[in-house]
Amino acid sequence: MSKSSTSQAIDVEPMTLTRFILAEQKKYPHATGDFTALMNFIQTAVKATSSAVRKAGIHSLFGISGTANTSGDEQKKLDVLSNDLFINMLKSSYLTCLLVSEENDTTIVVEPEKQGKYVVCFDPLDGSSNIDCLVSIGSIFGVYRKKDDEPVTEADALKPGTELVAAGYALYGSATMIVVSMGNGVNGFMLDPSIGEFILTEPNMKIKPRGKIYSINEGYSQFWDQATAKYVESKKYPKSGKPYGARYIGSMVADVHRTIVYGGIFMYPATTEAPKGKLRLLYEANPMAYLIEQAGGVATT
Ligand code: AHM
Ligand code: MG
Repeated sequence: MSKSSTSQAIDVEPMTLTRFILAEQKKYPHATGDFTALMNFIQTAVKATSSAVRKAGIHSLFGISGTANTSGDEQKKLDVLSNDLFINMLKSSYLTCLLVSEENDTTIVVEPEKQGKYVVCFDPLDGSSNIDCLVSIGSIFGVYRKKDDEPVTEADALKPGTELVAAGYALYGSATMIVVSMGNGVNGFMLDPSIGEFILTEPNMKIKPRGKIYSINEGYSQFWDQATAKYVESKKYPKSGKPYGARYIGSMVADVHRTIVYGGIFMYPATTEAPKGKLRLLYEANPMAYLIEQAGGVATT
């Protein structure tokens, strides 16, 4: 191989996620670099989860672990594993004080000697019903900052989504990707397995002003309220132009990622069965709404 063809194959100045966040932080004179460090710990949890997802079949990680989570769902082995990874990485970062996980009944207060200023709400492995059939799943996280110099309380996690300082998700799809926002747009980083780094591949992601896809679990249409039913009807039978296409994966991370990349609308409305909707505010709806708004889209209850 000639010298030039070798250098073409390897990017000698890759924009890694760490490098990107560090450069972003340098724009703010008072930034401490703590968020860069926090993201490094999240990246490690995501890389390890991704690795577990990829080899789950041969390592018998599919199937039910025998415990149930807060919402009464059956927990899968991968759910438990990714939850342990997120909790252990976040606690050992010395940067967090309070953790809220979909898989835990109560909040996790970090040991006082390891406490830092961040509160992280996360769903370590969302879309669990899709694990066993090899359909894309993901992790979701939202980051808040604790009030200065006051002991941490649950109230530090019970904040509106508008107070998030950062949010993101990892998608374990045909490739593994982290999509993150620190309130200054949305950027996507693909995992390069050969070097184990997330590389910026989707800078400044923006949702198209108008899409062609609606995404909702249509099997529950008999439980929708009139407004939802009417809205979906208008997408299927438009007064002019072509009808929208329907896509529904049943993994929020994959459905939201497609909505950011291709445009359209993703919905999980209230049903008579689940009058408050199924998606949980702290670690599903808030972080995703934040990312959608940061990508130029609209999010609503
Ligand atoms: P989970 O946290 O138990 O995995 O449930 C959340 C998932 C979302 O990813 C997805 O949008 C939704 O549940 C799908 O629910 P349904 O099967 O009712 O359409
Ligand atoms: Mg979930």
